[in-house]
Amino acid sequence: MNVLVFASRKGGSGKSTLAAHLGSYMAEHSRPTLLIDADPQGSLALWHEVRGARNLPLHVGSKHLGATLANARRDGVEWVLIDTAPIAEGSVAEAIWHADLVVIPMRPGLFDIDAVQATIQVCRDLKKPYAVVINAAPAKNGSDDPMVTDARGAMQALDVPTWAGQITHSPELSLSLAHGAGANELSSRSSGSNEIGNLWRSLTRSFDAIAAMTRKHAQSA
Ligand SMILES: Nc1ncnc2c1ncn2[C@@H]1O[C@H](COP(=O)(O)OP(=O)(O)OP(=O)(O)O)[C@@H](O)[C@H]1O
Ligand SMILES: [Mg+2]
Repeated sequence: MNVLVFASRKGGSGKSTLAAHLGSYMAEHSRPTLLIDADPQGSLALWHEVRGARNLPLHVGSKHLGATLANARRDGVEWVLIDTAPIAEGSVAEAIWHADLVVIPMRPGLFDIDAVQATIQVCRDLKKPYAVVINAAPAKNGSDDPMVTDARGAMQALDVPTWAGQITHSPELSLSLAHGAGANELSSRSSGSNEIGNLWRSLTRSFDAIAAMTRKHAQSA
């Protein structure tokens, strides 16, 4: 079972948006997935309620996370996506402790680049694999927008693994959520849908690499 945690101390960076779109992508591809809304704001739970579909189970709450994950594993869940509150301690640190991989969405802007560092530090302290995903970025015009180039440069200077792609700022991503859907369910050929698919494939490769590294460590121990 792979546990993916969406975390960032910065509010509005796109944690719930990415969790919902990736969750919908998983449901469409029939992968046994559990969503966990561990943020008292309840954004993911609201989306799930609007969705009203049964093909993507949801657990609400951040208490007893270990037991919830143990139950999920027993029930044959393969993927767990956990949305967290815009803080970097307490329940979020606990969710990160349970993570196999932490996704840190970041808008390309000075304040956002500054704010993600607290979350990165928690991941480093807990020795958890993490990756920054640039979200709500200006559209590419052949190459990255200068805002995105700056953000990548800042992450590189801090030695922060950053997804090579981007999730572009697009109304389609908000609109589909308002209908309880993901970009892929609204239109499978849209650019938002392609970007979410690319992100998912990249995350899967990261999980494979993490699993291979864990096996290697276990063999050499
Ligand atoms: N790529 C995007 N394109 C368009 N709108 C976006 C995009 N990403 C996020 N948004 C919008 O930005 C707002 C904040 O996003 P979201 O709620 O996912 O952030 P969050 O990190 O979960 O916030 P919080 O920390 O408050 O939980 C929402 O209205 C969402 O629809
Ligand atoms: Mg949220």
